[in-house]
Amino acid sequence: MKILGLSFGRHLGNTDMLVMEALYGAKEGAKDAEVTFINTNRLKIDRCIGCGACSTNLEKGGDNDCIIKDDMQMVENAVREADCIIVGAPVYVLQPVGQFKNVVDRFSCRHDVSAINWVLDKRRTGEMPGDPDAYPQERLKRRTVSYISVGGAVTKNWVSMGCATMHLFGFPAMMKVVGNFDAHGMGHVGIPVLDDDLMARVHEMGKQTAEAFFKDDKDMEWYGPEGTCPVCHQDLLMVNGTTTVECPICGIEGKISIEGDKLKVDFPKEQQERARGTFKGLREHTAEIQSFGSVCGPKIQSANDKLPQLMEKFKKFDEYIHT
Ligand SMILES: Cc1cc2nc3c(=O)[nH]c(=O)nc-3n(C[C@H](O)[C@H](O)[C@H](O)COP(=O)(O)O)c2cc1C
Repeated sequence: MKILGLSFGRHLGNTDMLVMEALYGAKEGAKDAEVTFINTNRLKIDRCIGCGACSTNLEKGGDNDCIIKDDMQMVENAVREADCIIVGAPVYVLQPVGQFKNVVDRFSCRHDVSAINWVLDKRRTGEMPGDPDAYPQERLKRRTVSYISVGGAVTKNWVSMGCATMHLFGFPAMMKVVGNFDAHGMGHVGIPVLDDDLMARVHEMGKQTAEAFFKDDKDMEWYGPEGTCPVCHQDLLMVNGTTTVECPICGIEGKISIEGDKLKVDFPKEQQERARGTFKGLREHTAEIQSFGSVCGPKIQSANDKLPQLMEKFKKFDEYIHT
């Protein structure tokens, strides 16, 4: 078994220490495991430039590797090899640090289990070129993951999107989330190692993340605050002026009700079963993306004559804006 710790914090900073402590716990949960720790702080991980080379190559029969060559390949290979992952990121301006999002954008979309399987199924029926068995199957394997969000602020509203955003890392690859830990308040803690309770809790989360790898999904238990959404256990909600609300992480709808001063959201079972991190939820999005071509293709085709003229003011923006 391979355990990976990924820290987006400073070298030997708060995040490093908390991720390492979780790894000590994970090692306790899987004694023979090989443990790797990567600090990304000084790595060069550029943003996804939206070139589409990965998906085009997949549809042409190849794999869907990224064509930008930087340190991402090393991080990606470590994630692909891992069975159990602890990810920690400091909060910069209410959310995980930007480099974390670069990794999410570069890694997660290309490991969307539904999108990859959609192409592999088409290869099997001969509708798309390529050998379905040639695609590296380990990229689709089951992994367990837990997240540690680290913030300086004692006031929780200064880490309002920390933990929740970290869940974007593993859902396309359908990683099994064991828990999350909101380690805010570092400004008062000083150094995490001085807080026994904090260290014990991340240690335990690491242990449970490793142990969960050996369990059936149905036997896995959530390690963290229960939260409002029963799937991702986060407390963020999208409201639209009605009593129907949506979890922005899982994309599922629930009904809101108020009892006394308590707010309850009921997310029906069928909604939970289509959460973004399930195959069903991911497949909804694959189907949506696949519909783009047949809808916008003819639209663009029929506007072919007038498009050059409509595009003129955008192509020559610098010229037009000053006239
Ligand atoms: C640019 C910047 C923005 C930050 N924004 C926040 C913030 O919005 N909320 C917060 O709680 N902490 C914020 N912090 C503090 C860090 O989250 C905190 O110091 C954290 O422990 C750093 O992790 P590290 O020690 O692993 O590098 C910010 C730090 C920096 C450098």
